[in-house]
Amino acid sequence: MLMRMAKKRIAVVPGDGIGKEVIPAALNVVRATGAAANIEFTEFDWSADRYLKDGTTIPADGFTMLNRDFDAIFVGALGDPRVPTNIHAKEILLGMRFKMDLYANVRPVKLLDESLCPLKNVKPADVDFTVIRENTEGPYVDAGGNLKLGTPDEIATQEDFNTRKGVERVIRFAFEYAKANGRKKVLMSDKSNVMTFAGGLWQRVFKIVAAEYPSIQTQHMYVDALCTHMVRDPKQFDVIVTNNMFGDIITDLAAALQGGLGMAASGNIHPGKTSMFEPVHGSAPPFAGKNIANPIGAISTAAMMLEHLGFAADSAKINAAVLAAVQQKKTTSDVGGTLGTNECAGWIAEQVGK
Ligand code: NAD
Ligand code: IPM
Ligand code: MN
Repeated sequence: MLMRMAKKRIAVVPGDGIGKEVIPAALNVVRATGAAANIEFTEFDWSADRYLKDGTTIPADGFTMLNRDFDAIFVGALGDPRVPTNIHAKEILLGMRFKMDLYANVRPVKLLDESLCPLKNVKPADVDFTVIRENTEGPYVDAGGNLKLGTPDEIATQEDFNTRKGVERVIRFAFEYAKANGRKKVLMSDKSNVMTFAGGLWQRVFKIVAAEYPSIQTQHMYVDALCTHMVRDPKQFDVIVTNNMFGDIITDLAAALQGGLGMAASGNIHPGKTSMFEPVHGSAPPFAGKNIANPIGAISTAAMMLEHLGFAADSAKINAAVLAAVQQKKTTSDVGGTLGTNECAGWIAEQVGK
């Protein structure tokens, strides 16, 4: 007897700006897969528009509801010049990461075609690594304050939180990720030569956790040096684990190696819990509403999400179609094509549906 598979439930939050374009475009690609029959999408309008309309960022029971009722969350981007405090982005996006405890931000960095890399003579095999960014601590906890606000003597503090548990679990996640994905090396990056307290904790915990994985090589690099190496010799990297802030910065740099922010995908993961998937890019307000944003970051993110939900074959199909689109220049102008957002995603959906 055939068992009916329970449908996977995905909460969709397009958000602001180009998020409103790339997310529906990516969903069209997902709908072209066989997995679509086993997925149910529910859209939420949490965004700057909603916030400006009725003051809602995310409803009070939002995170509980997402955890309880959904298998994954698919987010576009949050950020709008009409909300200069960025309060809605903080509460929705950082809210999901923090309140749902999605402690590992997985950002794969993969060059699909030589033409997309701004570096000379760099081949796709030379840019193929993953950054595991700590996602619940660091300066992002927003602890700090002002003294003598607005005066010439003003003092501002922004505290960098690093807990033993938080550091240990993300480092362990990086080693487990390496093991599960056939990676050979985990590099930990920090600034322990200056930030001695936090860096000291990262250094000690890295050594302790690494000892549990004798078959995986380890390396350490200060984050400033890492930036140079990433540009001069990206081939050396395999899995990089780092803190929240450094992870944010180096993944924009890494995105440039792949062809720009429009190409980069990410997952915010807590194994066994409802996880959240979003392209690395933001809402790019100047690009919004023009059908020019590259949908590939969002499409590759959707592929990551499908793999996470157990639809590995459909995920691989999307990745193959994305590769074909890049190779045949069925892309938007930021990566050398002439298509619009919808046309690029439409072409990829057609390949997937074949
Ligand atoms: P951004 O990623 O929105 O855009 C920076 C530049 O990257 C753009 O000007 C464009 O040249 C390029 N770019 C980004 N996405 C692209 C795409 N899909 N196709 C083609 N080119 C693309 O970053 P920003 O301008 O610093 O931020 C804009 C807003 O987005 C801010 O409010 C910021 O806080 C927010 N933001 C949100 C997220 C998120 O929700 N995850 C991430 C980053 C920034
Ligand atoms: C990212 C973004 C976010 C971050 C912002 C929008 C809060 O830049 O996802 O990389 O800093 O984490
Ligand atoms: Mn960022």
